Amino acid sequence: MKRFEFGRVYNFGPGPATLPLDVLKSAQTELLNYEGTGMSMMEISHRSPTYDRLHNRIKADILTLMGLGDDYDVLFIQGGASLQFAMIPMNFATVERKGAYVLSGVFSSNAYKEAATLGVGSIAASSKEENFRRVPTQDELSIDPSAAYLHICYNNTIYGTEFHYIPEVSVPLIADMSSDMLSRPLAFNKFDLIYAGVQKNLGPAGVVVVVVRRSMVENIRADLPTMLRYDTFIKKNSMYNTPPVWSIYMVGKVVRWIMEQGGLASMAERNARKAKLLYDVIDGSDGFYRGHAEPNSRSFMNVTFRLPTEELEKQFTVEAADEGLVGVKGHRLVGGMRASIYNAMPLEGAEALADFMSRFRRAH
Ligand SMILES: Cc1ncc(COP(=O)(O)O)c(C=O)c1O
Repeated sequence: MKRFEFGRVYNFGPGPATLPLDVLKSAQTELLNYEGTGMSMMEISHRSPTYDRLHNRIKADILTLMGLGDDYDVLFIQGGASLQFAMIPMNFATVERKGAYVLSGVFSSNAYKEAATLGVGSIAASSKEENFRRVPTQDELSIDPSAAYLHICYNNTIYGTEFHYIPEVSVPLIADMSSDMLSRPLAFNKFDLIYAGVQKNLGPAGVVVVVVRRSMVENIRADLPTMLRYDTFIKKNSMYNTPPVWSIYMVGKVVRWIMEQGGLASMAERNARKAKLLYDVIDGSDGFYRGHAEPNSRSFMNVTFRLPTEELEKQFTVEAADEGLVGVKGHRLVGGMRASIYNAMPLEGAEALADFMSRFRRAH
């Protein structure tokens, strides 16, 4: 198998996903002795001033990148994005004021399922009948004006579709951005709660970043356990229990790396270039490659496509791996291929994959 710098490969896996090389190297340098403490960041007390400074700096950096002020707070919560699927309806929805959900793929459907289990979920729109090839449009949204919130999944990791608009709604707007958080600038102040499992665009698995408008969590119902309440995380600065210090530290490094690259505008520009390279090969392949997503819903993060036969798809995966391009096999629900090109995937990785795709097509 071909290898690149440091014996590494280009990892197109959907998550856990590739991390910026500079971030890994910096963590390696600090591993035995973080800033003169004589300890690694895995060994430092979360009650120490050293950690406290870092924790608060990372929160401030995230808000700065998103252009948000102190009417928002940043929380670090464990349990994966999947726990957010449950916490959101538990904290905000009631039988009278249900949470409304746009079903645009697997994870948004899982989020709805949790609300439905609690008897507090309703469906605002769904593209399931079309095998989630696109995200529903603004005109298709049907939301009860008294709904507790509208929940959307901004980027659908499995199907390779992404919202290209922010829904205009009169109820609070909540978004799962697990697979496109901080990949481009957005009017984040139109959202009341944004969450992301960090293992795609922001760091290693182990923590979820939740960015929430403080006013959202002022009147949480009294009968929720401590660890399932957003206000616990606000009041205790996400340190009611021991936070996953290592994951948060790595998120901090990724966030600083994004800033050094020029922030979200520069991420967006790079991500659009990478996506265009791959979609251009698909569109110029005379039907050899068939994209799963409808063009106006195409994801900038996960490019999904099929080949003429399953045999060729298997061969594609094997030959790509030989060239050091790994993790391109699609999810079984869609089949075919999925190239995840998150923030940390260098342009050279996308170029290498696009080049391989063109050669593979010519050869077959
Ligand atoms: C968009 C999206 N939401 C939620 C999840 C679930 O995340 P977790 O495994 O952190 O619960 C994923 C995982 O792939 C995802 O891609």
